[in-house]
Amino acid sequence: MSDLFNNYIGGKWVESVSGETFDRKNPATGDLVATYTKSTPADVDAAVAAAKEAFKSWRLYPAPKRGEILYKVANLLVERKEEFAREMTEEMGKVISEARGDVQEAIDMTFYMAGEGRRMYGQTTPSELQNKFNMSVRKPLGVAGIITPWNFPMAIPSWKIMPAIISGNTVVFKPASFTPRTAIRFVQILEEAGLPAGVVNLVMGGGADVGNAIVEHPDVPLISFTGSNDTGIDVATRGARLNKRISLELGGKNAVIVMDDANLDLATDGILWSAFGTSGQRCTAASRVVAHTSVQKELVDRLVARADTMRMGDGLDESVDIGPVVSANQLKSINDYIAIGRNEGARVAVGGGIASDGNLGRGHFHQPTIFDDVKAGMRVAQEEIFGPVTSVIPVESLDEAIDVVNGVKYGLSASIFTADVNRAFRAMQDIFTGILYVNAGTTGAEIHLPFGGTKGTGNGHREAGTVAMDFFTEWQSIYVDYSGKLQRAQIDNQE
Ligand code: UN1
Repeated sequence: MSDLFNNYIGGKWVESVSGETFDRKNPATGDLVATYTKSTPADVDAAVAAAKEAFKSWRLYPAPKRGEILYKVANLLVERKEEFAREMTEEMGKVISEARGDVQEAIDMTFYMAGEGRRMYGQTTPSELQNKFNMSVRKPLGVAGIITPWNFPMAIPSWKIMPAIISGNTVVFKPASFTPRTAIRFVQILEEAGLPAGVVNLVMGGGADVGNAIVEHPDVPLISFTGSNDTGIDVATRGARLNKRISLELGGKNAVIVMDDANLDLATDGILWSAFGTSGQRCTAASRVVAHTSVQKELVDRLVARADTMRMGDGLDESVDIGPVVSANQLKSINDYIAIGRNEGARVAVGGGIASDGNLGRGHFHQPTIFDDVKAGMRVAQEEIFGPVTSVIPVESLDEAIDVVNGVKYGLSASIFTADVNRAFRAMQDIFTGILYVNAGTTGAEIHLPFGGTKGTGNGHREAGTVAMDFFTEWQSIYVDYSGKLQRAQIDNQE
């Protein structure tokens, strides 16, 4: 019997008023990971009330001092990195090296945002009148609703919570129901580092009850959401009716271009890593390979040979390359795409099935799968599959490759392998994604540059980097007139 994990509201670990619980099982083994209290809208009300109360003093707490708490958080995460990574692998399946990377990304973001506590720059400008001073400052909005997915269970919460709190907001945080334990560990560290009660509150449960109650709560003026397109649009629609500020980070259909002059060793490594890392369950995953026809066969042969030898299994085993996917439903949805691709005329070059030999049958494993001879308009080349499946689309030229890359409803990440600097710059100029790589795969964004996508991937906001502050703050323009008399802008300063 595992312990029951509770919500964190107003600095206390408390059971939901529902008295109900939910379980999470390890997707590699089927073993119980832990049991969690199942929240209701009434728990959300309590969490929002605590956050609203804490905002009164947190917004006035000096930002550099907030930063000092974040430095402590980052150092504690460094100390506990291995433990949290192992728990993450048990909880959602990604292989241990990648789970360490996930915790590291949270560490990086926390250090970065701690420093922001001593910057948070505004502007000072001249005035058009004498004896008058003009400036603008960043102000927090209040209670931020933070709704996060399971695929980066520590990194993505850190992308949202750290800029939210460094700028003086308080938070109600709902992690995905598959990954509450990592969320709890994160919040425990915030508590241990001395974050005042009520600044970050955690509620666990499903989107329909808990998520919507946050989105529609009148005292939550901004929502930052990462997840599926359907849910994201629903969140934005509900929030828009209440005139909220909403940031969406949704799907991707990211493509790697391999030109005829590419280093094929490098391209093979880059594609395998970004197509099959995290079992393809990244919004940045390379689910399309746009290959010049003159290298297509050689490239596919290399990819197939390598994919064929990738080891599937429990991600805690350091020799495993591909862990399970997150759930039975996800496994089915991925596998359904194999039939869809076949029916459309795509050829399965490797993989294609659910893996259930031996111990794999206890979990949710899908073979790394490569479709070859895919046409750009096929569903497998247009829809986000969110599993270890990628599609090779042959093209004759760079122009055609760029059209294919841009020809989807998403716009998160893309990459080009080429030895020709002119082609690389053409790709940078003409590909409309939020993230672009040259001679690397489509994954691996660093936390100090903007993260996000164009078109259906989001709604125009970016996370990470200094631009994250733009979402979590709003501007106040301040005019100080020290002339001692009425000075009318646009009037008294005219000849
Ligand atoms: C995601 O898939 O939702 O660039 C985030 C990357 C990681 C973040 C991915 N740093 O792949």
